[in-house]
Amino acid sequence: MSEHSSTAGSQTIHPIGMIHTPHTRAEETPIQPVFAEGVQGRAEILPEYAAGLQDLEGFSHIWLLYWFHQAGPPRLIVQPFLQDAEHGVFATRAPTRPNPIGLSLVRLVRREGCVLHLEDVDVLDGTPLLDIKPYVPRFDYRTGVRTGWLEAVDEQTAQRRGQRQSPAP
Ligand SMILES: C[S@@+](CC[C@H](N)C(=O)[O-])C[C@H]1O[C@@H](n2cnc3c(N)ncnc32)[C@H](O)[C@@H]1O
Repeated sequence: MSEHSSTAGSQTIHPIGMIHTPHTRAEETPIQPVFAEGVQGRAEILPEYAAGLQDLEGFSHIWLLYWFHQAGPPRLIVQPFLQDAEHGVFATRAPTRPNPIGLSLVRLVRREGCVLHLEDVDVLDGTPLLDIKPYVPRFDYRTGVRTGWLEAVDEQTAQRRGQRQSPAP
């Protein structure tokens, strides 16, 4: 263990609930919410965290942070879904990360008590939910961005691979 990792220490994470979706196979699951338009799911929050949901229904979109519970072992060099080339894992959204934390911007359709009804869901059924944050364009939207290797991926390829469609014959 390096000096830095021992300084950072290890943390204990307590999931706040579970995400339920129609996705049961990783290789058939859309790779981002933009490729999962209209896919419905729900987040069931544990009762002990219910008070923390107060006022969440005022937001149309929320960030979900979750644990990629079915990810393979961590890899620092990965080949992402959208390009046949290798990149450092931190320059990708690949699940095989040292801390396998996923991040999805989904639509909050409605709240029923401890159940959040969601749309545009790109995660596997049974995924442990770690945190929820409201999407706030004032905080989260940027102009003048660069998107690295993704700038070489054309839109047609992104749609096909992102939606997990088979390659064109
Ligand atoms: C490229 S990751 C991106 C997920 C997220 N939007 C992000 O940016 O962190 C999406 C893929 O992760 C996989 N996946 C989804 N939920 C998972 C889970 N609970 N465990 C392992 N892999 C999962 C699926 O194969 C899905 O296509």
